[in-house]
Amino acid sequence: MIKAIDFGQLYREHLARSGRVFKPASEWDAKAAEMRTKVLDSSYRTEFVSRMQFSGEDTVLDIGCGPGTIGLALAEKVKQVYGLDYSQGMLDAMLENAAQLQVNNVQPILASWEDDWSEVPVCDIAVVSRASIVADMDAALDKLNQHARKKVYMTQLVGGRFVSREIAELLGREDRSFPDHIYIINMLYQRNIYPNLDYIESASRLAGGSSLEELIDKVRWSFGELSHDDEEKISAWYQRDPEYAQQGGEPMRWAFISWTPPAQ
Ligand SMILES: C[S@@+](CC[C@H](N)C(=O)[O-])C[C@H]1O[C@@H](n2cnc3c(N)ncnc32)[C@H](O)[C@@H]1O
Repeated sequence: MIKAIDFGQLYREHLARSGRVFKPASEWDAKAAEMRTKVLDSSYRTEFVSRMQFSGEDTVLDIGCGPGTIGLALAEKVKQVYGLDYSQGMLDAMLENAAQLQVNNVQPILASWEDDWSEVPVCDIAVVSRASIVADMDAALDKLNQHARKKVYMTQLVGGRFVSREIAELLGREDRSFPDHIYIINMLYQRNIYPNLDYIESASRLAGGSSLEELIDKVRWSFGELSHDDEEKISAWYQRDPEYAQQGGEPMRWAFISWTPPAQ
């Protein structure tokens, strides 16, 4: 029966319900300068790369590459990196980072997920890091499978949200989550592909405070205005386990999905 479920359609319906507004490339251009150096020494980056297998002969296509978060971590250890992004600002930031690192095997490709990829090179490895909330996941998976010979490595939000699930439920906020990684696992299964699944955890966005007041400020920043009743609920949650609450509750989890594309 599971084979009969159209997970691609469910993904699109879930995405529509989330109210996702797709940003134009110009919005990412505006973020490029700030992101350029920030992402290069994150534990997320180390965790992502440590889960990959590659050799000095491999070519890598990094889709939604941003300022080169993953591609530049690989550049010295592989033959060639292509960074694909629809934001010229991000591609410029990647090239600036590459120049600083003195690597000269990184090539930018100005394109979007939605474009025709017939001119995009087929590589040994495709990488999609934090860049896969796409409008049409069926089309995206087809593109990935056509452009990677050996492996695809992708991260997708677990639970489909950046904000805390626990706090959203506590406050009874509307579920505006993005489609979860589980859709992708099922869509791959339906293509007779058997992915590996792992998780990369990072601190909750609500972590780091040392008092109830700081937690309430962080919750307000993520969720918007809070009523007196909301604050009471957060206070009760905090009192139950202050240490856990100061960590912001559950960590944020990225699903790390990898698979071998079918031979073309
Ligand atoms: C959250 S950043 C991730 C950057 C990097 N991969 C990382 O993990 O740090 C998302 C990137 O995807 C790019 N992007 C967003 N929508 C895109 C689209 N439709 N086509 C191509 N790139 C897109 C943005 O310009 C941005 O650089």
